[in-house]
Amino acid sequence: MTKDSLSVTDNRTGKSYELAIKNDTINAMDLRQIKVNPDDFGMLSYDPGFKNTASTESTITYIDGAKGILRYRGYPIEQLAASSNYLEVAYLILFGELPNQAQYDKWEYDILHHTFVHENITDFMKAFRYDAHPMGMFIATIAGMSTFYPEGRDIHDADNRLRQIERLIAKTPTVAAFSYRHLRGLPFVYPDNDLSYTGNFLNMLDKMTQIKYKPNPALERALDVLFILHADHEQNCGTAAMRVIGSSETDPYSAMAGAAAALYGPLHGGANEAVLRMLVEIGDVKNVPAFVEGVKNRERLLMGFGHRVYKNFDPRASIIKSIADEVFEVTGRNPLLDIALELERIALEDDFFVQRNLYPNVDFYSGIIYQAMKFPIAMFPVLFAIPRTIGWLAQWQEMLLDKEQKIARPRQVYLGSDERDYVSMEDRK
Ligand code: CMC
Repeated sequence: MTKDSLSVTDNRTGKSYELAIKNDTINAMDLRQIKVNPDDFGMLSYDPGFKNTASTESTITYIDGAKGILRYRGYPIEQLAASSNYLEVAYLILFGELPNQAQYDKWEYDILHHTFVHENITDFMKAFRYDAHPMGMFIATIAGMSTFYPEGRDIHDADNRLRQIERLIAKTPTVAAFSYRHLRGLPFVYPDNDLSYTGNFLNMLDKMTQIKYKPNPALERALDVLFILHADHEQNCGTAAMRVIGSSETDPYSAMAGAAAALYGPLHGGANEAVLRMLVEIGDVKNVPAFVEGVKNRERLLMGFGHRVYKNFDPRASIIKSIADEVFEVTGRNPLLDIALELERIALEDDFFVQRNLYPNVDFYSGIIYQAMKFPIAMFPVLFAIPRTIGWLAQWQEMLLDKEQKIARPRQVYLGSDERDYVSMEDRK
């Protein structure tokens, strides 16, 4: 008969402890009873980068990194990418179930009719430097939105929370498109609520003098699939930031600005931008072997490779690779694809990458598609942030409703000076 507990013997004292096991975890607070002296603080677990620490229970997204499985609320990402659309997936992620027709129609209407931003936000965005990075504009504008919707601070009211969530999902494409138009020096295009979520986004990006903008259906669908793939990814750096910031009970706009800032980094959602810059730098298939040697000599990272959780393949990367051809039929083939394919081929055969389980991640191919769709490289992290909005907000709400959650406040292992007396300036060496 097996017992759901872990027996631990502290060899410093010879004392043994029984730690309860629940869902294959032990509660870190149970370590606190392990002491050498009664007035010791007690034992902590040490885990820089949270490599093996679960900070929450969650029912939203399931990943099996060894098998390359990703599911939202139980539904495989492959099925959602093939059959669903981004707004339906957003509903699923937020509410836990696929909507029926009436629920979907209401949800879609509510989102598509909150896409406009206050004119003061438009003015605020125009005030950025002419060549401002669109992700910097995006982060700052989302934070600025907290001043337009101060009622968002009432985070314990469910209806109020839903209103802010709908606003954010509705307005992030507008903010993203305005940052793009600003970078290009083009006038802002206002939302067209007749179009789909992604169709309207393309409208706000591309429309010039047409009376009515008609998105290319293949590009609209490809972008929608990319949005589905990026919608949530459980406790990654940006989502962990959302939960940590939100745990102090700040408003969702301020918390989401922090999550987007975490996403911006090149090790996270900024990797798609870094991949493209890397491919441009490599410049030609013949330069790939020398570049790979540089990676193996630790001069650089191979951007778009490796993942904290996926150690076999990233299912999102496989789906993206499969939609690339559909996009290239419309846009023409991106010449950087040959460099990417050669990088992938060499890396997947090389011991350095094989031994470390380094495979292409979601960012390896997404940038090539975005570039073929004529997005400037600086827009890539913004294209990641738009669909991740629902993941951040669903995880934020789950955290608020979870009775076990407290303000996030990690411990540290202090290794600095012991107490010492202040020395006046003239007595210092
Ligand atoms: N190129 C070369 N070596 C790498 C790479 C890479 N891209 N990624 C990991 N390694 C090596 C690393 O040096 C280490 O080697 P060793 O054990 O000999 O010191 C080993 O592989 C394990 O890596 P790690 O840094 O301990 O792994 P991690 O889980 O802390 O980091 C990662 C995961 C995604 C930050 C990392 O793989 C990386 O920096 N990749 C490049 C950036 C990137 O593509 N990020 C996008 C991630 S997916 C989308 C998202 O998160 O938003």
